[in-house]
Amino acid sequence: MPKRAHLVVGMLATLCIATFFLSTIIIELFGSHAAVAQLKSLIVMPGLWIMVPLMAAAGGSGMFLARSRKGRLVDAKKKRMPFIAANGLLVLVPCAIMLNRWATAGSFDTAFYVVQSLELIAGATNLTLMGLNARDGLRMAGRLRSRSPAATKAS
Ligand code: HEM
Repeated sequence: MPKRAHLVVGMLATLCIATFFLSTIIIELFGSHAAVAQLKSLIVMPGLWIMVPLMAAAGGSGMFLARSRKGRLVDAKKKRMPFIAANGLLVLVPCAIMLNRWATAGSFDTAFYVVQSLELIAGATNLTLMGLNARDGLRMAGRLRSRSPAATKAS
């Protein structure tokens, strides 16, 4: 049961960041300022209120499962999690709040696009790290084969 819960919250947290990231790129490229402001507001509320608990739940449940596991994959996952959390709380959350304030005020100036770029870089970084955690988790659970020569031969 804890493993299933971890699978669900881990995948939902990753999907959440992916949704914010892709919708931001699409709306920035093709949407009006009003559409950008609407998206920024949705990312803060309810977005952040969904993303932050999901990330905390993914990290917490992962640490719980890791008590009975040892090895390279679990160590790599443990090392990535503080970066994911710091990037989320110290970069993504403040960026989302600032961008929402500026977009609501109609202030689409250089500062807006600098912070928007920073948010996209931080989002891409977290997506990569969370994707790697998902891959290593699925490998540990035996749901994904390792790409070592031995494993390839066996398939
Ligand atoms: C956002 C971050 C994370 C994501 C997306 C994620 C994703 C996953 C996924 C998809 C699985 C496979 C579950 C299954 O197939 O049943 C898994 C398993 C696992 N994860 Fe994570 N995980 C994350 C964070 C962590 C952290 C921080 C740890 C702590 C070291 C951790 C430890 C584990 C363990 C021990 C397993 C179970 C392996 C097993 O016993 O079969 N995960 N994870």
